Amino acid sequence: MEIKYQLKPASQRRSEQFKPDKPLPFGLLRTDHMFIMDYEDGQWTNPRIVPYDNVAISPGAIVLHYGQAIFEGAKAFMHDDGEIYTFRIDKNAKRMNHSAEILCIPHIPEEIQIEAIHALIDVDRLWFPHQEGASLYIRPFIFATQDSLGVHPSATYKFMVILSPSGPYYPAGFTKPIKLLITKRFHRATPGGTGSAKAAGNYAASLRAGEFAKKFGAAQVLYLDVTKTYIEEAGAMNHYHVTKDGTVVIPEFTDTILRSITSESVMELSDRMGINTKQDRIKIDDFIKGVKSGEIVEAGGFGTAAVVSPVGEYVFEDGSSIVVNNNEIGEITRKIYNYYTSIQTGKIEAPEGWLKKVERRI
Ligand code: PLP
Ligand code: COI
Repeated sequence: MEIKYQLKPASQRRSEQFKPDKPLPFGLLRTDHMFIMDYEDGQWTNPRIVPYDNVAISPGAIVLHYGQAIFEGAKAFMHDDGEIYTFRIDKNAKRMNHSAEILCIPHIPEEIQIEAIHALIDVDRLWFPHQEGASLYIRPFIFATQDSLGVHPSATYKFMVILSPSGPYYPAGFTKPIKLLITKRFHRATPGGTGSAKAAGNYAASLRAGEFAKKFGAAQVLYLDVTKTYIEEAGAMNHYHVTKDGTVVIPEFTDTILRSITSESVMELSDRMGINTKQDRIKIDDFIKGVKSGEIVEAGGFGTAAVVSPVGEYVFEDGSSIVVNNNEIGEITRKIYNYYTSIQTGKIEAPEGWLKKVERRI
């Protein structure tokens, strides 16, 4: 792919001054540039890297009315050799095309997505945040731009990538377990719907539940399936629990659950970490009983932004709650977090192909 570069003059770039002294927020900071490519006349064209700025779209753009948009979330890490590596970016590119399929959006070859991401990181590499627990968060996304009020797939789209030097998703980072709300009031996804896609609309639909959860001091809702029987996932991460025998149990991936790259990676690393993992349909009633009886000894969430986020307490709408592991971070959770982040940051050798170096092109 021939990417056109229209870069900010060095004097106008902010990267040189980027020396954060306070813990970075998640997702608020931007780098100097962004990647854009258009879909017109049945093909992706005009790949370019330009200064980060607003994008003009028609007020009638399909995305603004019918939400035809998808995105990905990935991370890049700097290793001790001073080079930046993306983590399992091929998985994100593949999942983007899975989401594209579900939202009737044209595919983008995986290697083109990866090249776009690497080219942008290369340009903005000075933005890498040197701070414990921080990383360069990568947000690729595609949205429908055709000016049309009919409900049909758009004929035109934009694929963009933006970057955000970010700290932990939950402000306390890996120091304090979070709370989740168990409720039968909301559902994230329905069978045959868009639950396995990273569709913008799934997140719009989760906002009300998220705000409701906050009233109970919880970070998110633990969603159940539409029969209100099985655990699915949280609003922005997969769920796991650990049984007394040390097995990490992750809900089976159905078409109402986002197939988490973090969960998959943890399962792929299980032999190396010396832990058992399995996927299962998990009844919420069994989960609650298990926590109460002490059969379930740890729980938490897996996700790119969330990494490994221990959950210490599950609250209910009547104000009661159940506590896991004394509301402390458990041994297996700590082991997974340490191993996983050591692989991402190059302290432990990653399985073949998991890390891709961002080559210098300019
Ligand atoms: N489930 C939802 C709804 C998410 O938004 C995320 C975040 O990406 C995940 C699960 C975790 O997926 P991954 O590990 O691929 O980031
Ligand atoms: C991620 O973990 O990358 C996500 O996309 C979750 C959230 C920030 C939407």
